[in-house]
Amino acid sequence: MDIVELEDHTRNLKTLPATFYQVSALLEDPTSTAGDVGRVISVDQVLSAKLLAMVNSSFYGFNTKISSINRAVATIGFAGVRNLILSTSVTDLFLTHSGEETFNRVDFWKHSLGCGIAAKVIGNHLRRPDCEELFVAGLLHDIGKVIIDQFMNAKFVKILNYAEHTCRLLIEAESEVLGYTHCKVGDLVASRWELSLPVREAIVRHHSPSSKMDYPVQAAIVHCANSIVQGLTLGYSGNCRVPLIESEVTEIFPFSGQMIEPVMTETMLQFNDLKNVFFS
Ligand SMILES: [Fe+2]
Ligand SMILES: [Fe+2]
Repeated sequence: MDIVELEDHTRNLKTLPATFYQVSALLEDPTSTAGDVGRVISVDQVLSAKLLAMVNSSFYGFNTKISSINRAVATIGFAGVRNLILSTSVTDLFLTHSGEETFNRVDFWKHSLGCGIAAKVIGNHLRRPDCEELFVAGLLHDIGKVIIDQFMNAKFVKILNYAEHTCRLLIEAESEVLGYTHCKVGDLVASRWELSLPVREAIVRHHSPSSKMDYPVQAAIVHCANSIVQGLTLGYSGNCRVPLIESEVTEIFPFSGQMIEPVMTETMLQFNDLKNVFFS
């Protein structure tokens, strides 16, 4: 199946819930309040419970317990709420498996969640204002693998086996077997869901960040987070070895090897707390 046919198949993908687009619209409207967003969220009890669990986890690290939706919205902001909706909505897509289960989706979800957390931790470290968006970019960076697995299961099994036997990275095996990669496929989904341009670019370029891109920092952070989380052996990405961090990232943001250990420690701490929110 070529990329155009695959794009056609992605039309059948579940769309994001209406609440995601409703909160996105409120985010764009300067007159909307936390109460407006709270009303949208409160309609969905499962989402409300997850929002409160997430706000009270070490992912945010607040000292006092937050027990109302409006207070949660006011505390983490509209963007935080929108990203939580997105994260909970894609969990099913990540975990649902229809073909041969060579690719453990639970472990893959752990890799993705870990990468989202690590990207946000790096963003916090750099005092960036877009940490919520970095989380989403990290969480979704490999979503193209889910799509390849879902719509071309036999090919994906072949890619996994080929990568393992030749110790290639999955992206290299994909290029050889398919002629395109999960990065390109991920962009099809990201554009269908109307995700932001920095998130889309991070998905497309998380293996090859460059200072010449429109949003190089986001892609470079996800690139580092992806390697760090594999270094932690947190979950499974389909790779038999850890992808190296490209030296190019040091031209994009002030990355140093000394960042790796504290990022790993913080990522593990938040991961252990946050996984229960998504797996409950
Ligand atoms: Fe990847
Ligand atoms: Fe990855």
